[in-house]
Amino acid sequence: MEGKQFPFYLLLLFSWLIVNQVASDIPTTKKGCDPQCGNVSIPFPFGIKQGCFLDEWFEIVCQNDNSSNTIPKPILNRTKLEVIEISVEGTLQVRNPITFLNCSDKQIHQSANLEGSPFKYSQNNKFAAVGCGAIALMNSGEASIGGCSSICNNTAYGNSCNGINCCQTTIPSNLKSFNTIFLNLPGEGSGNQCKFAFMADQRWLESGSTNISAIQDMVDVPVELNWELYHYSTYDIFGTFVETNSSGSSEYNCSTNIATSEYGCYANSSCDVYIVNANQQRLQCTCGSSWAFEGNPYLLQGCKGKIS
Ligand SMILES: *[C@@H]1O[C@H](CO)[C@@H](O)[C@H](O)[C@H]1NC(C)=O
Ligand SMILES: *[C@@H]1O[C@H](CO)[C@@H](O)[C@H](O)[C@H]1NC(C)=O
Ligand SMILES: *[C@@H]1O[C@H](CO)[C@@H](O)[C@H](O)[C@H]1NC(C)=O
Ligand SMILES: *[C@@H]1O[C@H](CO)[C@@H](O)[C@H](O)[C@H]1NC(C)=O
Ligand SMILES: *[C@@H]1O[C@H](CO)[C@@H](O)[C@H](O)[C@H]1NC(C)=O
Ligand SMILES: *[C@@H]1O[C@H](CO)[C@@H](O)[C@H](O)[C@H]1NC(C)=O
Ligand SMILES: *[C@@H]1O[C@H](CO)[C@@H](O)[C@H](O)[C@H]1NC(C)=O
Ligand SMILES: *[C@@H]1O[C@H](CO)[C@@H](O)[C@H](O)[C@H]1NC(C)=O
Ligand SMILES: *[C@@H]1O[C@H](CO)[C@@H](O)[C@H](O)[C@H]1NC(C)=O
Repeated sequence: MEGKQFPFYLLLLFSWLIVNQVASDIPTTKKGCDPQCGNVSIPFPFGIKQGCFLDEWFEIVCQNDNSSNTIPKPILNRTKLEVIEISVEGTLQVRNPITFLNCSDKQIHQSANLEGSPFKYSQNNKFAAVGCGAIALMNSGEASIGGCSSICNNTAYGNSCNGINCCQTTIPSNLKSFNTIFLNLPGEGSGNQCKFAFMADQRWLESGSTNISAIQDMVDVPVELNWELYHYSTYDIFGTFVETNSSGSSEYNCSTNIATSEYGCYANSSCDVYIVNANQQRLQCTCGSSWAFEGNPYLLQGCKGKIS
């Protein structure tokens, strides 16, 4: 006979509603802006409509390929990279092309060129190359800035990337662009065998869910980028994105504090300014100085105390 138990899924539903209620009080976007594209959250400074993003680099086009069984894809309009996830803590995950050489009909696609953009390749990525006796180099202009080589063993194709048929290495800091070139490792394998190289988020690469040989059938892999707000003067930084409330209010007035060289974002958030060079600075904000606050520090009233 049916018991009188309260269905577990309803409990789950109620707790989800409560959590969601709290979360929805904290804005992630400017007023009137879509908080999501498909299942990806789009927090400010990223945004979809005019007035929703900080500048064109952060403009997202929510691309709907019009077939009912697919969810819309968020594309960074300027770089044309598809976004997988955005964090207000200064990172985003995008799909980055794999560079193939001599792999059936696959074309050579290089990693996205991020020069001049507020994005760079995060050091949480690894550069990996797959091939039997391959040297893959990351080149910047004429110079090699990284790379790795793998020895050949046709009987040992596996899931690990440890120098046999597959190699991986760390990436340099502040990396914004590179070209992948391949060389043959003398005495190893045949020069015309399929080789490919890619940069990928280390967590994805090491998650174990990724079969190295299966990557050959993909076109792109998740890569982590850092995003930064950088401008040509402190005034420009704050003047550009701080929504000043002209009636005064208790909000931190960043521009006032330039004189005292004590910088700040909005209430309940803290802010760091890094000097990039003589006429360029970088701004990074965080909600609160502890775990007590959450939200989006780049929005007016974006940081709220956590309810425990
Ligand atoms: C969005 O959906 C895709 C496909 O179902 C999934 O792979 C991805 O992890 C989801 N992303 C988020 C942020 O939930
Ligand atoms: C796109 O969707 C609209 C509305 O569902 C439909 O009328 C149109 O034929 C679709 N176009 C394509 C190219 O599938
Ligand atoms: C995307 O970028 C292009 C230029 O590359 C620009 O013309 C266009 O207005 C931007 N926005 C959208 C929604 O396409
Ligand atoms: C492999 O790629 C190189 C460089 O693109 C090319 O010269 C060579 O003909 C290719 N070999 C095969 C078998 O496709
Ligand atoms: C190739 O891999 C097989 C299986 O892992 C191993 O037994 C063999 O010793 C390897 N050969 C070389 C030359 O490393
Ligand atoms: C990895 O993928 C290849 C090709 O898709 C498949 O043949 C192989 O069995 C897979 N290996 C593992 C350990 O999943
Ligand atoms: C500005 O701040 C005052 C005082 O906190 C508030 O009453 C007013 O609604 C705010 N105006 C806007 C446009 O947010
Ligand atoms: C912030 O400070 C600047 C420079 O002192 C001043 O012009 C501006 O009116 C102030 N804004 C607010 C909201 O107090
Ligand atoms: C700061 O956090 C407190 C506690 O959550 C909240 O009541 C207050 O509205 C926040 N201030 C602003 C300006 O968002």
